Amino acid sequence: MEAEKKAIFSGMQPTGMPHLGNYLGALKNWVALQDEYRCVYCIVDMHSLTVRQDPAVLRRRSRELLQMYIAMGLDPEKAIIYFQSHVSGHAELAWILNCFTYMGELGRMTQFKEKSQKNSDNINAGLFTYPVLMAADILLYNADLVPIGDDQRQHMELCRNIALRFNNIYGDVFTVPEPYLPKIGARIMGLAEPERKMSKSDGANENNLIYLLDKPELIMKKFKSAVTDSGNEVKYSSDKPGISNLLVIYSAATGVDISQAENEFEGKGYGFFKQAVGEAVIEFIKPIQRRFEELNKDKDYVDAIIRANGEKANAIASRVLRKVKKKVGFPAV
Ligand code: TYM
Repeated sequence: MEAEKKAIFSGMQPTGMPHLGNYLGALKNWVALQDEYRCVYCIVDMHSLTVRQDPAVLRRRSRELLQMYIAMGLDPEKAIIYFQSHVSGHAELAWILNCFTYMGELGRMTQFKEKSQKNSDNINAGLFTYPVLMAADILLYNADLVPIGDDQRQHMELCRNIALRFNNIYGDVFTVPEPYLPKIGARIMGLAEPERKMSKSDGANENNLIYLLDKPELIMKKFKSAVTDSGNEVKYSSDKPGISNLLVIYSAATGVDISQAENEFEGKGYGFFKQAVGEAVIEFIKPIQRRFEELNKDKDYVDAIIRANGEKANAIASRVLRKVKKKVGFPAV
């Protein structure tokens, strides 16, 4: 029965607590899909090294992110949740796939261009080959589906191209994965700058993002100070980026569709609407925070999950890697 289920892989960088964009764009789907699929969800700590990290902070955040995965509803008995650095197959496969990826393809990646602009004093080779490691993550588990937000689409396309290229040479080795995006919430924008996506690297402007561990009062304060647009109508429209983003957040958080929400807030004014969006977000975040706090106190449980799930991930990854090594012509051990 289990073997018939399709496979899912996704990951998130432990460079900070997840924000509302991460949650509504990707993590919410991870939870929704865990019963129907064989899910593998990674904390991609190796990816985080492309930008300088304080070792103690990276270690703490990686563990907190794993706790957050559980707190938001992932069941570690159903889904495999683990650290990328605990499975050496990621790095091994990334090397092999590097030899099937062209410089030109990597040079076209918009995230590489953006990140190298932001970190102009540290444009390292890892930043350039980052999408190959991401492709290795996904292909190592023969994922059919990859739940992600809109900003990872281009990386996914490259992953598919690498898989197809490899399969053309060696036969059907890899499953060619499909991206899986939410209908609403694939691109949550900043609250203070609704023309730009909500992003951790905007930490300087704390009002721009809501973190899943923000206290309810802070969440409400941030929503109240969210940038709106001229006029007073709660309508989804390209010339109303602030209100449209809040409508998307409201809809993704409550399941009410956008047109219904427009009706609900007709004639109510921006202040009332912003308060309602804040309340809707606080509502689903509260139980997540409660569970996170509980896990904080249960070190043994978390340690056991880390060990058991790392082993499960390693077992799958080793099988696929063994096949790949044989295909490319490495001698048997
Ligand atoms: P990361 O850590 O930046 O983000 C994790 C997930 O959150 C989504 N996301 C958003 N969705 C909607 N609105 C936003 N403003 C927003 N910001 C972020 C991202 O699309 C992502 O799905 N390279 C990946 C991590 C990764 C990965 C993988 C993902 C490494 N290997 C393999 C999938 C499969 C990244 O940096 O995501």
